[in-house]
Amino acid sequence: MAEIILGISAFFHDSAAALIIDGKIIAAAQEERFSRIKNDSAFPSNAVKYVLEEAGVHPGEVSQIAFYEKPLLKFERLLETYHAFAPYGLKSFLKAMPVWMKDKIFFRRMINSELRALRFSRSKLLFPEHHLSHAASAFYPSPFEEAAILTIDGVGEWANLVIAYGSGNKIKILKEQHFPHSLGLFYSAITYYLGFQVNSGEYKVMGLAAYGDGKAEETKAFENKILDKIIDIREDGSFLLNMEYFRFATHLTMTNDKKWHQLFKVSRREKEDNLKQVHANLALAAQKVLEKIVLKLSETALDLTGSKNLVLAGGVALNGVANGKIMELEGLTDIWIQPAAGDSGGALGAALATWHISLNKERESISEDSMQGTYLGPGYSNEQIGAMVSKYNELSFHYLEESLLLEETVEAIEKGLVVGWFQGRMEFGPRALGNRSILGDAKNPEMQRKINLKIKFRESFRPFAPSVLQEDVSKYFHLRNISPYMLLVKEVKNIDRNQNSGKPHGFMERLNEKRSYIPAVTHVDYTARIQTVSQRTNLRYWKLLNVLKARTGDGIVINTSFNIKDEPIVCSPQDAVECFLKTEMDMLVLGNYVLYKKNEY
Ligand SMILES: [Fe+2]
Repeated sequence: MAEIILGISAFFHDSAAALIIDGKIIAAAQEERFSRIKNDSAFPSNAVKYVLEEAGVHPGEVSQIAFYEKPLLKFERLLETYHAFAPYGLKSFLKAMPVWMKDKIFFRRMINSELRALRFSRSKLLFPEHHLSHAASAFYPSPFEEAAILTIDGVGEWANLVIAYGSGNKIKILKEQHFPHSLGLFYSAITYYLGFQVNSGEYKVMGLAAYGDGKAEETKAFENKILDKIIDIREDGSFLLNMEYFRFATHLTMTNDKKWHQLFKVSRREKEDNLKQVHANLALAAQKVLEKIVLKLSETALDLTGSKNLVLAGGVALNGVANGKIMELEGLTDIWIQPAAGDSGGALGAALATWHISLNKERESISEDSMQGTYLGPGYSNEQIGAMVSKYNELSFHYLEESLLLEETVEAIEKGLVVGWFQGRMEFGPRALGNRSILGDAKNPEMQRKINLKIKFRESFRPFAPSVLQEDVSKYFHLRNISPYMLLVKEVKNIDRNQNSGKPHGFMERLNEKRSYIPAVTHVDYTARIQTVSQRTNLRYWKLLNVLKARTGDGIVINTSFNIKDEPIVCSPQDAVECFLKTEMDMLVLGNYVLYKKNEY
């Protein structure tokens, strides 16, 4: 009988469910996509129902259920933290718990009652440790027979950083670092101080850091202050946070604002305050410190394991700038990063850990990664799409065979239109990779501003990422490997630095300078967060880029996620149409259907 394992992550950030059958990944999705609540941390009932439906199995057929962390260990950490920070008192401690804890003490009970409501039996529940789940999600789907494993996040039970060695179906934990000395929480603290949302605004800090002036005295001074006063880094990459500067362990806030202000002479930015150069410089200083630590840890991981392959997971592995630098390490041959590197991926890791470790099952032949391009979510047929779109009077639509569909889409991109591109199964993880994407012309300097303001309604300082034909990546970027999950940031080739010289310009004006041949996807520091598109994992997207290349000479587009600010990426065709109607997006391609708004055409 087939062994069906359900993995679940929940109650912290970005809940998800994943299903594997006899070790093969069948489906995985985040709850936010169904509930439409961004980073939904509730029990992922909708995602669980979806993965079962995708596999065509009933709850009674599921042989094991794996939750991505151990509840009791977490409870123990809570109590210990309380004692460690005793002067603040029990009241303050209990009040502070929701910052990183919420209802976790009771979550075993909660999981059981949620599972019963979905008609599961409670006896099948397993709890692999949080970082083992991350490590499993990084190693088992990777294309490597053996690899060093590095997982770094905010906080698991106690650990927030693990170095391990993966070989065959085994994972051996070699080193751990414990709460509260956490790189993820340090970066979240910077995120908080710069006025962004903790747990979701971290990548904005990374985007902002590109505007920082690396040569400025201010940036260097910020970096030195962080290293002198806030983080003490050792040679092996382990470190201590000076807890006088942080309040996440005992209070509702991340930072001790008074201490930070004394140190940096910069006030904490409120959400609506204008971004200034000083914020970018502080973001860059923090980014450099993070890179320093991540690089040292990667070296330690390679040294300890003797491996030349490195796999990454945990929220910090979403920092593509740091990942791009790791790639240059001497002694590293190849790197693989779990696309759902954050806690959503823990659901998949927990299921894989159960299969390979608890059940001691071997891995299948390993040559390519087994994430299937991370297209593991729901897909919809043309019949379903046709029935849905016909209900909207305000839309005109037509059905096209693939070759004509690709031609019409490419023509629109060439004309400078913004195209919603909805195909196949939804991506698992935070990035849209060409199935729930908004596309535009990467060579058009106006596109970044247009998409940010008219479609995404968001801060215009943030860059867009390119999707490029895998075989053409070296034509545009200094990248020697593939980057299928948009988790590597590298330099753009043939940049035009003269555009910046001698002109007095403000912070935001820099965005509109034409920096390269592909300005819409070139960040202000001449880098790009690259997705390489392969024939193997996304044939239709790859064909689209080839048609674009045949017509324009370049198989590269802007690819940004199909959503507006503060909403989750669209899941169903209906979500896509609603988003299309709410924005100034010009054209929507849903499967083989092309949609326009009637009043415009
Ligand atoms: Fe985590």
